[in-house]
Formats: sequence, structure tokens, C-alpha cells
Amino acid sequence: MIHHGAAISPPNDNEFEQYYVHHHQIDHNLVLEGSRTFTLLNPAWDEPHHVIYLNPKMGALQIPIGTYHQSVSGTEGSMVLNQAVRDRDFDPSKEFIPVSLRDRADLRKAKAAEPVYWIWDDGRIRRLKVGRASKANVF
Ligand SMILES: [Fe+2]
Repeated sequence: MIHHGAAISPPNDNEFEQYYVHHHQIDHNLVLEGSRTFTLLNPAWDEPHHVIYLNPKMGALQIPIGTYHQSVSGTEGSMVLNQAVRDRDFDPSKEFIPVSLRDRADLRKAKAAEPVYWIWDDGRIRRLKVGRASKANVF
């Protein structure tokens, strides 16, 4: 998928963000050009909120089944290749329906959790929890 300039997938539902979730597809998103910020929400995870600043050097981001996801391009746009793996029950009419946070208290709670950030830094992928670091510095 190509974003020409700043764009968000899926688009917002007025003031509420929307997310995709798959039931029979595992995404593997590889940025070919530019950068794309992915937000993942999964209420079943101990850390239900992840933000990945994905660039071409980081390889493909795998998004497990049942994980809600959206992505945003910077102003320069981006090109992303998704090498999706689908099982035999995959039905395209059911896999790409945006889910609005308007209707989902569980996802709003996941989004409110302190995010885990994944960034490219000095040749490697780093995992950061900014909130925890700042709390540790409060004496
Ligand atoms: Fe997806």
C-alpha cells in the first residue's frame, strides 16, 4: 500500500480511531520507502499497547491474529509491502472491516495503557517504555 503524503489506515471515525483486525490472516508489513508508524492494540496481552516506528531497515512487522492495528505515514508518504499469510478460512469480506474505538471500551482501555515503543536506533531495534523510565526518575 502506498500513502502519498500523510495518511492513516484505516481512516478515523470522526474523533475516534479505527483499527483493522484479522481472523485468518497474519500480516508481515515491510516498509520499502519512507516510514510508517504502526499502533497495535491487543487486550489479551499484558502490555496491550505498542507503537512501532517502522522503517526499511527493521524488517517486516508481524501482526498476530486478533491484534488490532492501524498505521500512519509521515508527511513524506510511504510504501509498505504486506506479505500476508492466510489460512483456508480467509474471507476478504470479513477481514478488512474497520473497528471504531467508539464502540469498544476494551480497546479504549488498551489504548490508554502506557505504550511500548519500538524504534530503530544505532543499527538495532530498541524497545522503550517511556512512562516507566520517567516514573523511575521521580524521587
Ligand atoms: Fe492488516
